[in-house]
Amino acid sequence: MQQKIIILDFGSQTTQLIGRRVRELDTFCEILPYNKFPAGDPSVIGVILSGSPYSVHDPEAFRVDLLQFVGRVPVLGICYGAQFISHSLGGKVEKADSREYGRANLQYIDKENPLFRGFDDNSQVWMSHGDTITSIPDGFQVIGSTKDVTNAAFWTKEAPSGAVGGASVFAVQFHPEVFHTLQGKLLLKNFVVDICGSRQQWSAASFVDTTVAELKQQLGHDRVILGLSGGVDSSVAAVLLNRAIGDRLTCIFVDHGMLRKNEYQQVMADYQGLGLNVVGVDASAKFFSDLKGVTEPEQKRKIIGRDFVEVFNAEAKKITDARWLAQGTIYPDRIESLNITGKVIKSHHNVGGLPKEMNLRLCEPLKWLFKDEVRRVGRQLGMPEHLITRHPFPGPGLAVRILGDITPEKVRILQEADDIYIRALRQYRDTDGETLYNKVWQAGVVLLSTVRSVGVMGDERTYEHPVALRAVTSTDAMTADWAHLPYDFLAKVSNEIINKVRGVNRVCYDISSKPPATIEWE
Ligand code: XMP
Repeated sequence: MQQKIIILDFGSQTTQLIGRRVRELDTFCEILPYNKFPAGDPSVIGVILSGSPYSVHDPEAFRVDLLQFVGRVPVLGICYGAQFISHSLGGKVEKADSREYGRANLQYIDKENPLFRGFDDNSQVWMSHGDTITSIPDGFQVIGSTKDVTNAAFWTKEAPSGAVGGASVFAVQFHPEVFHTLQGKLLLKNFVVDICGSRQQWSAASFVDTTVAELKQQLGHDRVILGLSGGVDSSVAAVLLNRAIGDRLTCIFVDHGMLRKNEYQQVMADYQGLGLNVVGVDASAKFFSDLKGVTEPEQKRKIIGRDFVEVFNAEAKKITDARWLAQGTIYPDRIESLNITGKVIKSHHNVGGLPKEMNLRLCEPLKWLFKDEVRRVGRQLGMPEHLITRHPFPGPGLAVRILGDITPEKVRILQEADDIYIRALRQYRDTDGETLYNKVWQAGVVLLSTVRSVGVMGDERTYEHPVALRAVTSTDAMTADWAHLPYDFLAKVSNEIINKVRGVNRVCYDISSKPPATIEWE
């Protein structure tokens, strides 16, 4: 049976990060809302309680019955999780005089404790809390303290009274999942591997084997349709399904005319090289015609979304015996618990309005994976590196990177400039030997077609459009920083674009972070 760690989410910003750290330990985990513990599931080997924006004293604070799991399996409470354990089991949590935020050092560490095995003296941790634990419950012992926080870490070897079973309970006031807790990964390894007994069998290879077997079982001889976007998620989903059911998988790739230069041809060739059964649909004329004269960003998006569904459906309907619609949905797209504080950060993107009469069932083979795991699986499947490391690209394509109305000529100008920029990013190696392309999360060019400025080329006055180069670093696109690209690189790209792309006479670099800006301009 596959072992798993359950992470109960009390609404912290770093809950997903806990999940990623556990997966990095080759251990499967599920992030669930704080009140959705799967009682009776024998595959659960441990529970982690996350942080929270609430104080345990807030009337609306999230509460959970600890006896569902305390004692049965080892438990680790992090920040609010630690406060909640203390508060629920008879300790005391009070408002701190000042918010304890930032780096601190563990002046006292019980290095004999299994949670701190291998820790260095004074190990640095990251604190972020408004409440402090002023006394710990009976039967617990302090195993770590900082200068200001005596009860920074505590545990009980024997579960508290009322619990079934004798598994230990650990609580840490700091955040082991964040980078600034320098030995945080070690702490989580001690918990997940040594204390919970993970056999560390969750790997790309095991994922491929078990998923292919499950898909064979689930799909039998049914026919499946999948919409390809050229991006890594849908491509990996397609190759995985192809392994399971061969050419009973039909992939549909729609060209809306606003892809990157030569992208349609290249991606089609890649897919065919991978042995996929792909139907390519060139629908660019329809998209250009429906977008004619439209300048408002949301309207552009709506038209493209509507046309996409129309074209996809028309193609899907031709496959009359299809029973399933497959999608490359990944875990961060659907972690329900992101909603528990009411703050929806990103809504689940779905192929909207699929024809009801087709009665298709949904198949989402990557639904448990984080982005970096999707890439690992892609490599395991032997997919080419340029498909795996491809940057994210918006569904509406270059349409949201052209300010103003869209014409084939503007798309051509933007494609030329974008091609120069992306090629240069792939060629330029930074001081550490890595290409700039692989160092940034995403990059592209924006055509400011509503703006014109004066320039001079040779002896001639020009009156043309500027372009803006955009490159950001990020881990999940929810926040992003502008990438600090080297000046010599920017200079070279600027020269090349202005010299080679007719219609552009000025290049700017976008130095806005998200928030408050977004990655795309529209
Ligand atoms: P923003 O501009 O909101 O973008 O900071 C966040 C990430 O989402 C991508 N993006 C889209 N992806 N359909 C998509 O599949 C869309 O309509 C869309 N709009 C933005 C964007 O490229 C970035 O990676």
